[in-house]
Amino acid sequence: MKLDFSRITQQQNVYYLTPEDPSFSKHYLAIREKENRVLSDTEVRKLPYLPKDEWPYRIKSTERFLTHVAKKKHPQHILTIGCGNGWFSNKIAEVSTENQVVGLDVNREELEQAARIFKKKNLHFVYADIFKISKKCETLFDIITLNGAIQYFQDFEGLLSLLKTFLTENGEIHIIDSPFYKMEEIAAAKERTKNYYTELGVPEMTPHYHHHDEKTVRDFEVWYAYKKNIIHKILGKKDSPFSWYVFKS
Ligand SMILES: C[S@@+](CC[C@H](N)C(=O)[O-])C[C@H]1O[C@@H](n2cnc3c(N)ncnc32)[C@H](O)[C@@H]1O
Repeated sequence: MKLDFSRITQQQNVYYLTPEDPSFSKHYLAIREKENRVLSDTEVRKLPYLPKDEWPYRIKSTERFLTHVAKKKHPQHILTIGCGNGWFSNKIAEVSTENQVVGLDVNREELEQAARIFKKKNLHFVYADIFKISKKCETLFDIITLNGAIQYFQDFEGLLSLLKTFLTENGEIHIIDSPFYKMEEIAAAKERTKNYYTELGVPEMTPHYHHHDEKTVRDFEVWYAYKKNIIHKILGKKDSPFSWYVFKS
């Protein structure tokens, strides 16, 4: 592993690259509770093969990405940003023991669950404010994933610029299961988000949820394009309602 974990402070098998700041996670976790989306260890181990909520729609996007990683020459150094309870990072680590996977988040509770459930030599869970660790991560990763996490980053364009500096020469950034909006849709989407969090009793979450313009990823390739398909709907076929975006350095 290119990051030297032996020198990094750890607690409950989570490595701390920056001090904990719960200002986001306390509201985020309150919402997860209200949505009944805090999963038990047994449920997390099954992901994405869990027959509830959005999970049946996430199986194909997960499998497509894992197939891509499996075809790559190993070892690959992979960073999963917003790894949450760690299920996706773990799936990637299972593709090859030669690959080295780092799951990064700012949510101590879920990181501790991840580190408790998924113990592997090629998998590390890290707490970090990504904007404060730029020097440590320069040209370190072959693949970076943002899976279901872009909506929590206000400065998404700034994040992408930073992540490009984290990539190795032929590195890739993958954005999976993440919403983008047409400019004209953003105001209404913001209003829906505000109403949703207010109705759930956690209005403090509203400023932490961001709606990004699809133009932000104009220099990305689209490897799976979501299209509403009435035939699939009738046949009960389930797939991600979001496109798969890939940036190659
Ligand atoms: C909806 S969950 C997605 C978890 C997992 N990637 C998945 O696909 O199921 C979003 C995650 O992004 C994390 N997150 C939000 N802001 C973040 C930040 N600034 N840095 C790292 N992770 C962040 C949250 O704590 C949460 O665990």
